[in-house]
Amino acid sequence: MVNNFLQRVLIIGSSGTIGQALIPELKKLNAEIITPGHNILDITNPYQTKDYIHQVRPSLVINAAAFTDVEKSEKEQLKAWKINAYGPLIVAKICAEQQTPLVHFSTDFVFSGEKKQPYTEEDRFNPLNVYGTTKAAGDLFVSHVTDQYYIIRTSRLFGMGKSRRKDFVQRIIEAITSQPYLKIVDDQVACYTYSNDLAKWLIALFKTNARYGIYNLCNKGECSWYKFAREILKLKGLSFYKIKPIKTAEWPSLAKRPLYSSLSTKKFELVTGIKPRTWQEALKEYICCSSQEDYN
Ligand SMILES: NC(=O)c1ccc[n+]([C@@H]2O[C@H](COP(=O)([O-])OP(=O)(O)OC[C@H]3O[C@@H](n4cnc5c(N)ncnc54)[C@H](OP(=O)(O)O)[C@@H]3O)[C@@H](O)[C@H]2O)c1
Repeated sequence: MVNNFLQRVLIIGSSGTIGQALIPELKKLNAEIITPGHNILDITNPYQTKDYIHQVRPSLVINAAAFTDVEKSEKEQLKAWKINAYGPLIVAKICAEQQTPLVHFSTDFVFSGEKKQPYTEEDRFNPLNVYGTTKAAGDLFVSHVTDQYYIIRTSRLFGMGKSRRKDFVQRIIEAITSQPYLKIVDDQVACYTYSNDLAKWLIALFKTNARYGIYNLCNKGECSWYKFAREILKLKGLSFYKIKPIKTAEWPSLAKRPLYSSLSTKKFELVTGIKPRTWQEALKEYICCSSQEDYN
């Protein structure tokens, strides 16, 4: 299946963190990859999206486009709904009409965080903020409009993208050069995901002919933003830098966030036989292999 599947892959949102990680993995498989920019293919424009996909006739569509700024989503709600819910509906509808499989990405923020164990693919949505609500709507649209879909639910991505948004690792490293000390939230626990690992796991799903459906994909282990920041500083040889753990309530934020939103990857492990490595191992590789220019 993998060969037919990957003949002509359209990646929407290819400049983002996931999009950039997918390109080299797909190239290894000699896939023809089509990566239109946001200016060429805007998923909130149904006519443009339909024309483009009809013209290109991809064998697989990967929708990695999203409005991922959780704080801005609270203020720019219409934009969040358009890109995270309406856009995926448009793309899924076109894919269904063309019988083209679709990969779409989701987030742990579709959950409220009240569960005390990792969330599975079967758990019900209960988002706390606009971003999570719009993403949950996008998931529902995709799963109702087409049968041939993989919804990949992931959380707290780190990795190199070309889009304007910097990941947490880059933001921490930048912040310590400009601020005397940092306060970082220590009571929101979740899983972290290295985008390069995620791209490899997605290919593994294709290679094992995994059934369509939802799959949670993230690195092993869970921790807070504070503990993750501590590990970044340790790996950069900057453990002496002062960071202070704080509670969510002490951090000014428009968006409510789940306090616990770890994802269980058991379904993926059963299907592929792959056990994701720990976030510490993945973070070490990311930090050690990225040059200073990559961060700028
Ligand atoms: N980042 C995380 O921590 C995280 C966590 C869980 C799940 N996810 C999910 O993973 C997926 C990928 O996230 P990411 O972090 O890789 O995203 P990202 O780095 O923020 O990149 C988003 C991409 O979407 C494009 N885009 C935005 N609006 C568009 C539109 N209307 N039409 C076409 N393209 C558009 C952007 O292009 P421009 O830059 O040119 O606008 C960019 O290429 C999303 O579904 C996200 O919800 C992310």
